[in-house]
Amino acid sequence: MVRVTPFASAALLSLAAIEVVIAKSQEHFRDSPDFQDTCAQIATSISNDSFVYYSPSSQYQLDNAHWAESSTAQSACSVEPGTAQDVSVILRIIGETRTPFAVKGGGHATNPGFSSTTGIQISMTRFNQVIVDKTASTVEVGTGLIWDDVYQALDGTGLNVVGGRVSGVGVAGFTLGGGYSWLSNQYGLTIDNTESYELVLPNGTIQTVTSQNEDLWFALRGGFNNFGIVTKFVLQAHPQGDVWGGFVIIPDLFFNFNKVNAAILKFQQEVTDPKAALLPTYNTVGDIPSAEVLMFYDGPQKPAGIFDDFLTMLEVPVIETSASFLEFLKILPSSDPFAGKRAYFSSVSVLEYSASLLEVLVNETLFWGDKLAKLDIGGAVSYDTEPFDAGLFSHSNIPSAYPPDRSRVLFPTNIYFAWTTPSDDADVAAALWQSTNTIRAAAVAEGQNITDVVVYGNYALIGTPVESLYGANLPRLRSIRSAVDPSNVMALAGGFKI
Ligand SMILES: Cc1cc2nc3c(=O)[nH]c(=O)nc-3n(C[C@H](O)[C@H](O)[C@H](O)COP(=O)(O)OP(=O)(O)OC[C@H]3O[C@@H](n4cnc5c(N)ncnc54)[C@H](O)[C@@H]3O)c2cc1C
Ligand SMILES: *[C@@H]1O[C@H](CO)[C@@H](O)[C@H](O)[C@H]1NC(C)=O
Ligand SMILES: *[C@@H]1O[C@H](CO)[C@@H](O)[C@H](O)[C@H]1NC(C)=O
Ligand SMILES: *[C@@H]1O[C@H](CO)[C@@H](O)[C@H](O)[C@H]1NC(C)=O
Ligand SMILES: *[C@@H]1O[C@H](CO)[C@@H](O)[C@H](O)[C@H]1NC(C)=O
Repeated sequence: MVRVTPFASAALLSLAAIEVVIAKSQEHFRDSPDFQDTCAQIATSISNDSFVYYSPSSQYQLDNAHWAESSTAQSACSVEPGTAQDVSVILRIIGETRTPFAVKGGGHATNPGFSSTTGIQISMTRFNQVIVDKTASTVEVGTGLIWDDVYQALDGTGLNVVGGRVSGVGVAGFTLGGGYSWLSNQYGLTIDNTESYELVLPNGTIQTVTSQNEDLWFALRGGFNNFGIVTKFVLQAHPQGDVWGGFVIIPDLFFNFNKVNAAILKFQQEVTDPKAALLPTYNTVGDIPSAEVLMFYDGPQKPAGIFDDFLTMLEVPVIETSASFLEFLKILPSSDPFAGKRAYFSSVSVLEYSASLLEVLVNETLFWGDKLAKLDIGGAVSYDTEPFDAGLFSHSNIPSAYPPDRSRVLFPTNIYFAWTTPSDDADVAAALWQSTNTIRAAAVAEGQNITDVVVYGNYALIGTPVESLYGANLPRLRSIRSAVDPSNVMALAGGFKI
């Protein structure tokens, strides 16, 4: 009998325990041996399509750079493989020398050490192809791309893929973890729209993984870097015409939250058109709380009724457009103002956003926003509600690592804290964990049966037990992992380890 620890016990992880996890994650960034021998061995073994870079070259800086400053480490060297063959060579050397390493796609991981290392930083940046196959209706994308590159290449083709919602996010981590998109209400998660993977296995074998390969197909859809290094994805393409979308910023959250919450509730309860999507966020930046609501409709005109409450709220200016998908993304607020700060994400999966739960989220925004602003000059908090369509998980019935249960929808509420001072890291993580637990407890208290649901790996805070990411899927994932990686090569890279 395999014992699966439900998330309820993860919730009991104490603040002291989370501080230990954070402190451990930082050890990773200090006192490391030098791995120059491994760098040199890689440099002499790879082909001319690949290259090793050293500090302080600008390419080395770029290869190590992350969206969150707290995720950036100084590696011994960085390597940019240009072919799957060279990825294979690198992985074999790493396995033989037991050198710590990291694989970076877009570098948007907010957990330190997940795609950064003091060992060998592998940057996938040279895998940058976007190849459209109109006949097969697929798009091949390299794992070094960010979604902006993919949308740019698809602009004007009449096709689109199920990818990122805001600028800058990487294709690789997003797709390996699940992928919640503007198009997910219509087509499901990104993993539900993947045709194949090119994977370099931990022993260096290059393999194309399709639905024919039951185990790896299951494992790669949610399993991150546990099964090897992915060099490309082939994604399903969907027809894409012009879209309508935009955003509003509602000031004075303290006074106006009732209007915002009523409109979110109404959207969640009444809107059944899967072409419509909403991303409402409560923010406190500095010590100023507001709500920001992003709206999307997969059609050329603003749909009647669906977004009216937000569009007319307090007569605040609406930034909107009817244009190509690419143009829509360009008018959205950029996450750039937060880039370069220290950042952690955390998440609570809920079954619905009730009026009382939304009030808890507002209170948490005000409470922790104030606390963080007092703690740290760069303090900011952000609480996303993600009211997807009830059919979100029904677009695929083939088992995937994430989510282990598709019988009911989970909304992956995202909590994001930003700050600037490294010595505040542990305090911020503890605060974030406390807020995560408050929200989960509030949802349970109002009767939501979420004590044993999983959290979304791309939003989960470091230290979250893997049981809480994969639930009942964990035993199968563990047996696939030990078959594919008997010598534990991928354990030399950070991340949620199966
Ligand atoms: C501003 C912002 C907005 C976001 N919006 C969304 C959203 O709308 N929907 C959503 O679902 N998520 C969203 N996310 C979360 C996002 O999905 C994750 O941060 C994701 O991991 C980013 O992928 P990346 O390639 O940039 O990350 P990286 O930091 O490069 O990698 C993340 C993880 O994937 C592994 N990995 C990367 N490349 C490979 C590879 N080639 N082979 C094997 N393993 C690899 C890394 O080792 C690491 O463990 C957002 C994040 C941010 C910061
Ligand atoms: C790689 O480049 C070097 C120098 O530019 C050259 O001498 C060598 O022949 C190249 N090797 C291959 C295999 O192309
Ligand atoms: C607001 O949140 C804080 C922190 O979780 C909590 O201590 C406080 O009781 C909450 N206030 C209300 C009115 O719920
Ligand atoms: C809660 O949900 C689980 C499935 O995740 C189910 O097995 C259990 O019976 C539910 N409990 C209640 C009280 O509804
Ligand atoms: C590498 O691993 C795969 C998957 O476990 C296996 O099929 C293959 O035979 C291995 N190759 C070598 C050379 O050991």
